[in-house]
Amino acid sequence: MKIALASDHGGFELKEIVREYLTEKGYEIMDLGTYNTDSVDYPDYGLKAGQEVASGNVDRGIVICGTGIGISISANKVKGIRCALCHDVYSAEMTRAHNDSNVLAMGGRVVGRDLALRIVKAWVESDFEGGRHARRIDKITEYENKC
Ligand code: RB5
Repeated sequence: MKIALASDHGGFELKEIVREYLTEKGYEIMDLGTYNTDSVDYPDYGLKAGQEVASGNVDRGIVICGTGIGISISANKVKGIRCALCHDVYSAEMTRAHNDSNVLAMGGRVVGRDLALRIVKAWVESDFEGGRHARRIDKITEYENKC
């Protein structure tokens, strides 16, 4: 699985931790930055990650800012993106199973290293259940296509 990672300065440290973890696990990573803690604008990174996922260049994306909120809002503006902000393992599993989320967002100033990696593990390893959940996602896609 190929995964795009992107963060602003508030998520930089956690992005590096996530990159190291996923690389060790054998995932192919596209690191879209940021590459240090200099102040940047989270929409630039959320949108970039969303575009890479939506265009099929990568299978999924993980985006991180200070709270995870700004960068998740940004990623969700890209057509076809279902970005879920998760700060617990249960939500990470459920958003794959029920929402088929293709981007995960976290806040680097909200979760610590160990919890963040448990969330990432749950999210990358969980599958979409389909069925009635697919019907609900189709309604979102239908709305998106009308806009
Ligand atoms: C940057 O200071 C901070 O606003 C950003 O990382 C994020 O938390 C926005 O939602």
